Amino acid sequence: MKKIFILTSVMSVLFACTHDIPTPNDPLPGDQGFSAECDPDSVYFQQDILPLLVSTCAMPECHDVASHEEGIILDGYENLMFGEDDNLIIPGSLGQSELFEVITEDDPDKIMPPPPNSPLSEEQINLIALWIMQGALDNSCSSCDSSQFTYSEVIAPMIQTNCIGCHSGSEPDAGLDLSTHASVVSAVSYSNLLDRVSHEAGYSAMPPTGDGLSDCQVNQISQWIESGMPNN
Ligand code: HEC
Repeated sequence: MKKIFILTSVMSVLFACTHDIPTPNDPLPGDQGFSAECDPDSVYFQQDILPLLVSTCAMPECHDVASHEEGIILDGYENLMFGEDDNLIIPGSLGQSELFEVITEDDPDKIMPPPPNSPLSEEQINLIALWIMQGALDNSCSSCDSSQFTYSEVIAPMIQTNCIGCHSGSEPDAGLDLSTHASVVSAVSYSNLLDRVSHEAGYSAMPPTGDGLSDCQVNQISQWIESGMPNN
């Protein structure tokens, strides 16, 4: 039932779009380059999908380079699309994409990420589904505006994408849950959140793997802190 719901919601988003959506018959996915503007109807691998995979799947002891459970390394486009298991993502087909299968699995022995990690949220699953349906491209865009930094529109979604995979659920890393405004404020005040995301010497970098937040994103966090960390 759940899968059908997700599929119909993805289809309705697809049909609502006015521009061309790549079909499975289009050329193989590859480097689709960089757009200066982020199209709100498109899902971008570098901004939307990779940080999600890194924070929910590529952590130590799972699918990072050192552990690569079942030969699967989810730390970048190459390894995801052209790794040992070449059925992880089949552009344009949710039914054949094994990654989609395991994140929507009902069986607790098969679902990814496995318990005690929380399953991906419906929103995160829909994002991955839409990216696969749009051709699973290696695309990226930049729309970070460092003069925009409200909590609900900028900071919370950024934390959701880049941090929540490790910092939520019943056993969050470092005992730190970053899913509420109050806990983020407390991590800024007492756990050097800004020093960690800006890779300040002497602090462990957060997120610990991948390229981390962009300079513009770090700027947005520091502007939000300077303005008193409002829950706006
Ligand atoms: C892949 C898992 C992972 C991701 C993703 C991640 N963290 Fe962490 N984080 C950890 C681990 C493990 C620790 C504890 C060890 C350490 O300090 O290196 C930690 C520690 C922290 C601490 C210090 C907590 C304390 O009290 O010592 C802060 C603050 C933090 N993370 C913030 C963030 C933020 C903000 C993000 C997103 C931008 C993020 N983390 C993404 C795994 C992660």
